[in-house]
Amino acid sequence: MKSLLSAVALTAAALMSSTAVHAADVEVIHWWTSGGEQAAVSVFAREFDASGDKWVDTAIAGGENARSATLQRILGGDPPGAAQFNPGRQYEELIAGGQLLDLTALAEKEGWEKLIRPASISSACLVDGKWWCVPVNIHSWNWAWASTAAFKKAGVELPTSFDDFLAKAPKLKEAGIIPFAIGGESWQINGAFGVLQTSLLGLEKREKILKDKDLELAKAEMPAVFTKWREFKQWSDEGAANRNWNDTTNLVVTDQAGMQIMGDWARGEFGVAGKQPGVDYACLALPVDAPTVSTGGDIFLFPKQSDPAVEEAQLKLASQMISPRVQALFNNAKGSMPVRDDVDMSLADDCMKKGLEIIKNPANIAEDAGRWLSNDTTGQMNDLVAQFWSDDTMTVDAAVAKYVEILQNAD
Ligand code: GAL
Repeated sequence: MKSLLSAVALTAAALMSSTAVHAADVEVIHWWTSGGEQAAVSVFAREFDASGDKWVDTAIAGGENARSATLQRILGGDPPGAAQFNPGRQYEELIAGGQLLDLTALAEKEGWEKLIRPASISSACLVDGKWWCVPVNIHSWNWAWASTAAFKKAGVELPTSFDDFLAKAPKLKEAGIIPFAIGGESWQINGAFGVLQTSLLGLEKREKILKDKDLELAKAEMPAVFTKWREFKQWSDEGAANRNWNDTTNLVVTDQAGMQIMGDWARGEFGVAGKQPGVDYACLALPVDAPTVSTGGDIFLFPKQSDPAVEEAQLKLASQMISPRVQALFNNAKGSMPVRDDVDMSLADDCMKKGLEIIKNPANIAEDAGRWLSNDTTGQMNDLVAQFWSDDTMTVDAAVAKYVEILQNAD
């Protein structure tokens, strides 16, 4: 009996010690602070905590703020355990500098390259044969969100194109509705501008301009985009100047505004407000006559740590984030599409299903410009388009000239 007891005691001690070794805190920096974003990031935190380690949440509002805080922390020798970035060139220096945990063994064990679709999502993290981050979702900018009640109150049908929206905007305004909801942050303005560019020029010309830096094509085609973009300004509201994206989305959620061009993270806001697509709002995949999805979204990278227990917990977190269960729960809350198509999407609403249908055809996929443009060039584009939006004295010619100059000097 005595030996049995000591064997049990030994086993328990071993288990405790093995559990004790694995219990680690992982500090995660992200910029998900809106209602929908919080609902989504809580899925990650809850699942990770339930596995025995601890998600230490560092939420910093604003993508640019969160990303620079992460870079500062790493440069300062006090790296977080994980951090959110957008897929693309935002973290190329961290890869080049060898500052990230190599996820290759995990990714190959779990077969990420076969599971993730489209392949361009993998290429954000799989660089020169090694995995340096885990993609967690696909967010598309190419959506407009329209309030059913607002258009009904104005006595007009939901818009079927940008020109149709512009034709109906006066009716929305007459009905006391803000026709076009937009917030004054430069990334919001340039994001919506980019959707208009895709709609007017098509995927091929857009790629030639932004990826191949075809300056002559930009000179020929961008005047029409800037001219059309200015037509939207008159339908925005005075409160736009300093409004964040989710407060802007809330204007559509509460039927105070007619339509917002915004990435499908907006869907998370409708979700937490209990709004139903097709009933309370419409998700218009853009361009309406040839819907596309852009492959934006989010990745998490894991700065190297000195503590083996933390490193083990980092690997566990990466594996959880891309697991079928967490992919389904997280993406349904976030409004994004999962990075793998073998997850249970029975919870998906009609907007998510629309996006999943569009993404099946590679011809409908617009690479996110963040794959081609550095963070610095993106910032210059954001500033230019925001300046053109706010300064009515800036001519189309001046805007195009600056746009071409930015492309010419793009690093
Ligand atoms: C994007 C990010 C989304 C969403 C949005 C607004 O860059 O990919 O997840 O959060 O910012 O914050």
